[in-house]
Amino acid sequence: MGSDSGNVQKREQWGSRVGFILAAAGSAIGLGNIWRFPYLVGKNGGATFILVYLIITVLIGLPVMLAEFAIGRAAQKSPVAAFGALKVNPFWSVIGWMGTIAGGFLVLSYYNVIGGWTIRYMIASFTGLMDAAATADQSGAFFGSFIGKQAEVVLFQVVFMAVSMFIVLGGIGKGIERACKVMMPLLFIIVLVLIARSVTLPGAEAGLDFYLNPDWSKLEDPTLYLDALGQSFFSLSLGLGIMITYGSYLGKDERLPSASLWTAGLDTLIALLAGFAIFPAVFAMGFEPGAGVGLTFITLPAVFAKMPGGTYVSFLFFLLLFFAAVTSAMSLMEVATTFAIEKFSLRRSDAVWLMGIIIILLGGYSSLSLSGPPKITIMGKSKDFLDAVDYLCNNVFLPVGSLLACVFVGYVWLEPAKKELTSDGKFAFPWMGAWTWCVRVISPLAIIYIFYMGLAW
Ligand code: PFF
Repeated sequence: MGSDSGNVQKREQWGSRVGFILAAAGSAIGLGNIWRFPYLVGKNGGATFILVYLIITVLIGLPVMLAEFAIGRAAQKSPVAAFGALKVNPFWSVIGWMGTIAGGFLVLSYYNVIGGWTIRYMIASFTGLMDAAATADQSGAFFGSFIGKQAEVVLFQVVFMAVSMFIVLGGIGKGIERACKVMMPLLFIIVLVLIARSVTLPGAEAGLDFYLNPDWSKLEDPTLYLDALGQSFFSLSLGLGIMITYGSYLGKDERLPSASLWTAGLDTLIALLAGFAIFPAVFAMGFEPGAGVGLTFITLPAVFAKMPGGTYVSFLFFLLLFFAAVTSAMSLMEVATTFAIEKFSLRRSDAVWLMGIIIILLGGYSSLSLSGPPKITIMGKSKDFLDAVDYLCNNVFLPVGSLLACVFVGYVWLEPAKKELTSDGKFAFPWMGAWTWCVRVISPLAIIYIFYMGLAW
């Protein structure tokens, strides 16, 4: 099944350089940029957090992304099979297994649930959300009542997952690349429209002030560094084999360093722009920026409800969130799909169905846990399933996956990696020395620090 004559399966490749970069940026740009980044900025003193985040992304995130691209392109295989193809000790396949299970199944299962909320909120923008959200209290009640309706949450989760499955069914070029080429430019335009609306509201300056003026006293708070490190890995889609998978569909003529710079640059740009769309509006309408996870689904609808044209602004905002979420969800789905194609020799369509159903069932668990059991108790503290999975992925799988990738590339596979980065000497890479330092020393030490600090459940 799925193999040509001569038993060699022809592996699909990205149609163009722009298509690949938009797909990688599509994976990176997600709920993390629009939902999580602004609330972390709100919580950690505005511009101070942004500064630390930028330094960490350049020194730690970017080198790890480059390492993942190199592994993927050299192996031309899924993360699970990649280490076999590189002919290294089979132990290293643990990176692929962990990434596939944590990313393809666990992260995706709850990502779908939140993706489903974006669809619900797009519709609700026209059907009562604005009336319901006249104040933050009522907006909170609307949210609470929505996540309490289990059948509805599950329904939207399934619809969201169906969209990702449909796109991944089309494969790399005709599915993921094509979808990203349409959705990513639209996403960019929507952010700009929202910024224009937000900064022209009377009173918007207070939001800009908050966003752009650093509060240096926050530098003394260790959680700021922890949040910035975790956010950088999550936002760049690192540690779960995504960039290995996307790199595996690349040819040798692609310059990996510039591809990773583009991907990380676009990701950071959208996160920063999301802040410009959100904070001026939040302050102009007299709300607090530090509402944490509720900033997107509770504070913002109340903000929209108070502004002129709020219904349309709300719809556009949740459409933006939907595009961001779906282009990330499809990258996670692709990891699970490539795994099933290679491991069980399935056709792509069978692999998508099989993996999709398993992920939907797991996501159903997350959906139900929002308003009742199942709960998970670890070290005496109880969390609902969605929070528990989110916690485990962000604090354990993501940093451990990234750490192993650094150690592998920095100490076991350094010379082949260097060759890969220059496409066998074809392109110059003047930052090779700095990159080597980052993957061997700086990134591993920083990751061990997050891992250790983040273990407080
Ligand atoms: N980078 C995505 C975001 O910022 O929302 C989320 C994500 C996708 C995390 C894929 C990890 C991953 F492997």
